[in-house]
Amino acid sequence: MHTIESIGNLKGNSNAITRWATFGPYYAMFPIDFAFSVVEQYSKVGDYILDPFAGRCSSVYAGGVLGRNSLGIEINPLGWLYGTTKLSPAPKELVVDRLADIYNQRNDYKAQAEQMPEFYHLCFCDEVLTFLLSARDNLKWQTESADATLISILLVYLHGKLGEGMSNQMRQTKAMGYNYSINWWKEKGMIEPPKVDPLRFIMQKLIGDTQKAFPNFREKVQSLLAMLPGIASNGRASESK
Ligand SMILES: C[S@@+](CC[C@H](N)C(=O)[O-])C[C@H]1O[C@@H](n2cnc3c(N)ncnc32)[C@H](O)[C@@H]1O
Repeated sequence: MHTIESIGNLKGNSNAITRWATFGPYYAMFPIDFAFSVVEQYSKVGDYILDPFAGRCSSVYAGGVLGRNSLGIEINPLGWLYGTTKLSPAPKELVVDRLADIYNQRNDYKAQAEQMPEFYHLCFCDEVLTFLLSARDNLKWQTESADATLISILLVYLHGKLGEGMSNQMRQTKAMGYNYSINWWKEKGMIEPPKVDPLRFIMQKLIGDTQKAFPNFREKVQSLLAMLPGIASNGRASESK
């Protein structure tokens, strides 16, 4: 059975538990060590934990890792996606298959991409934009585990500093309107989005950052992620046992 002490540095990257614990940047999240310490301090192994505002599911995840039965509810599909992925990521081989599927269909989206507003052409190169349109259209993330895992990973690496994500560098701030971004890029002369090969880029992330974390993870978490109606009616619940 895991304890905080046996896991080691929760903010570190040294094992599968800590790598997945902080998966998914999210706008309002508990510090991961806070989530773990509250669960450890105020509950026992086998207890039931409910987080009705689960966010990216740090507390649900902590409960699962520490041997509690955890239930989380989250209204924001992004939080739900990160949670469902970290609690029960699909096998990497299936994720890679789906990545190839949507990549192979990207050229069907060229005409649609051309019609997209200026923002998208300053934000993404053509390869990435057609790939993302294919992903949006073809990934059944509400019902298919591999698709949920893949789209979570795409979202994690969608934006970032130049070279770390698939988009043009944006100003680090909470929210920006389209026109704000367009003006910001133009003022800075950043009108060429980075050329990224999305297949190679995401494959590298799958092989690198998350490879070691994919096996064995399912056994470590005993959690149930509930969804609100709407998502729940089309969605799935993740339960390891
Ligand atoms: C502070 S965050 C949660 C942090 C989270 N407990 C953690 O461990 O990181 C609050 C969350 O509540 C969610 N939320 C707000 N209203 C909600 C509602 N009516 N039902 C479910 N979730 C809701 C928000 O989408 C947001 O993700």
